[in-house]
Amino acid sequence: MENKIYYYPVWLRIWHGVNAIGIILLIITGVSMNAGVDSSFLVSFDKAIDIHNVAGIVVTINYLIFFIGNLVTSNGKFYIVKPRAFLKRPMKQAYYYAWGMFHGMKAPYPLSEKRKFNPLQKYTYIAVMYFVLPCVIISGFGLLFPEIIIEKVYNVSGIFLTAVFHSALGFIISIFLIIHLYIASIGKNPLDNFKSILTGWHHA
Ligand code: HEM
Repeated sequence: MENKIYYYPVWLRIWHGVNAIGIILLIITGVSMNAGVDSSFLVSFDKAIDIHNVAGIVVTINYLIFFIGNLVTSNGKFYIVKPRAFLKRPMKQAYYYAWGMFHGMKAPYPLSEKRKFNPLQKYTYIAVMYFVLPCVIISGFGLLFPEIIIEKVYNVSGIFLTAVFHSALGFIISIFLIIHLYIASIGKNPLDNFKSILTGWHHA
């Protein structure tokens, strides 16, 4: 009999949908803005700034849904790391992704009611959601209100450093997104996990 697990409650799906659309808009307009003031690569500069500012604010407010949701609902427990075999577990999963799954090996950490993420996935989600995204939000807030940024650090402009930091993290999120989509396509069939994040139900 098919085993279905309700992994993604409504609030999580709303957060995820808004976040996905928002981040894609931020990546497109961010890349576009990097092409320069006079360039209309992808989107014209002025339009790119407007869309980037609005999407940034929406993603920031939406982030609070994720953060508070994980504090007050049981979803937060999937983001807790156990110290036991801290490195061995994600390495085993990486070996499976790189070699094992192409050679008939069984997934080392099959998903269940208790385990929504494999160890590598869990570490990645924690890093992106509790480090990279908050840093992008804080540095983006600084760039929206540049008067709050330190003027100079060792004679280098604080705004320049913040912009480099912000862009570098944006780049990391873009790489995360590509890997995220690839990993999400590894399931019962390539579309199964994408259906799950829309319906809430995972097919174990
Ligand atoms: C087109 C864009 C995206 C698609 C199609 C997509 C797809 C998915 C799918 C299928 C899942 C469920 C399977 C899994 O956990 O791997 C998922 C979960 C998740 N995604 Fe995405 N994603 C997108 C964008 C993003 C972005 C931009 C972020 C963060 C910056 C993100 C963060 C997450 C997180 C943290 C989860 C786990 C949520 C939880 O169950 O607590 N996703 N995504």
